[in-house]
Amino acid sequence: MILRRALACSRPLPRVARAPSLARWYSPTIYKPDGTTHAVKEELTPLAKHIRDTILATGPISVAQYMQLALTSPIGGYYTRGQVFGREGDFVTSPEISQMFGEVMAVWYVMHWEMMGRPAKTVFVELGPGRGTLMEDIMRAAKRFKSFYASVRGIHFIEKSPELRKLQHDKLGCDWNDTTTVDDKNDSGTTPVSSVSRRYGGLRVGWHDVVEQVAVDKDCVPLVMAHEFFDALPIYKFEKGEGGNWNEILVDVADSNATPMQATSPAQMRGTLQSSSSIDGDSSASHFKLVRARGVTSNAAMVLRDQRFDSLFDKGDRVEVSPESARIMIQLADWISANNGMGLIIDYGADWTQGDTFRGIKSHRFANPLCSPGSMDLTADVDFSYLRFAAKDRAKCYGPIEQGSFLHSMGIQARLQQLLKSTADDKVQKDLVECYRRLTDVHSMGRVYKVLAVLPNSSTGAPVPFAQPTAVDPGNPTATDST
Ligand SMILES: C[S@@+](CC[C@H](N)C(=O)[O-])C[C@H]1O[C@@H](n2cnc3c(N)ncnc32)[C@H](O)[C@@H]1O
Repeated sequence: MILRRALACSRPLPRVARAPSLARWYSPTIYKPDGTTHAVKEELTPLAKHIRDTILATGPISVAQYMQLALTSPIGGYYTRGQVFGREGDFVTSPEISQMFGEVMAVWYVMHWEMMGRPAKTVFVELGPGRGTLMEDIMRAAKRFKSFYASVRGIHFIEKSPELRKLQHDKLGCDWNDTTTVDDKNDSGTTPVSSVSRRYGGLRVGWHDVVEQVAVDKDCVPLVMAHEFFDALPIYKFEKGEGGNWNEILVDVADSNATPMQATSPAQMRGTLQSSSSIDGDSSASHFKLVRARGVTSNAAMVLRDQRFDSLFDKGDRVEVSPESARIMIQLADWISANNGMGLIIDYGADWTQGDTFRGIKSHRFANPLCSPGSMDLTADVDFSYLRFAAKDRAKCYGPIEQGSFLHSMGIQARLQQLLKSTADDKVQKDLVECYRRLTDVHSMGRVYKVLAVLPNSSTGAPVPFAQPTAVDPGNPTATDST
């Protein structure tokens, strides 16, 4: 019944993305140098200069600090720009490919709202909403379910980018007359902090820099969504060295005396220590390079405190760890358990700790992440086992399962059929089928993207379409029960 009603939420003209075929992921191999050498250094932008000065003043910085500055610094961080999505931008995401994605997500929330006894008050909390497309698709589909729609009291967006906040504001039909703003840190205008969506019946919309700023009323059920958010959070990189010590991999200025790191080859990433090649293919152009820290850094001592990092890795192995992800996951798990909420985390990654996935994405190509900070997206595959470990004893985690399987179980094929019937235009029909293929095919986004569901600790029964909660083995936290 729910599915049928959701599938009736068609629009006159189905939206399909005519975007390049590269999504915001690629197979889990490191950036591969193209062998090109550049005699001329790239331009030293204000952000690159700031990073360089920081390193010259205090020494090499962590990859996490570099990533944070390159992505969200107010002096030219990548996400301070608005137009990074789509054909003119650098990448395309699932909600931008087709409306079917968000509509199917809406069905999931409605189903679990029903299963949880139709709570009277709910609030959406979306982390990293991009252009606001996913929430718009969810809300439009949710309108078909009158009781559910009536329960939605507001939307909280966690978004650092002033430009993207403005796009989200307009996408949800918020009126600037109702909008409270703060001055942009980069003086490019004003940044919305709260508004009212005229399109969605005067619904309150709030923006926050960090999850801790969101105040969820005790009697309000949080409906959490994080799509391609965790992969943008800063990671630290370490390599296991002599005597089992973990050496941190840091970012240094290119003209320092430190020897640049040699990259792990794809063969090494699969655990065989054979060949190596330079990680920094066009390092002669970049102002930065990766180096090994001398001695154990405080980051290594803090971030790798968990026993798994002693027992599961051998000399030469690398790990990428995002403590910021764990911090946010703890917050989400606590909200969800305290307020009987539910959450979906969708991203590319695996259910184990990654080694060498840190990369740049620019103009739909993979790029050296150390080149031109602020000019490209930086990302690393998500370690779902680490997220589950952070949520341990706080909430129940289900999955991750593959995106293709999730979308199929939630009825994407039926929705596709409906949209195909709604148009006689051959081209639109072909595009719709192609979008469906891209979202679900195991060779496209269907396998590499995973879905993790989070339910309260007190919940009984698994959410559709998951099996049992995924356990964390205390002796070996990266090992998982299969779902
Ligand atoms: C790759 S985009 C994904 C956008 C959207 N979810 C989609 O799939 O189309 C990442 C989003 O996370 C936001 N973001 C990145 N790092 C963030 C941080 N540390 N805090 C808050 N938002 C962040 C970006 O501004 C952007 O909206």
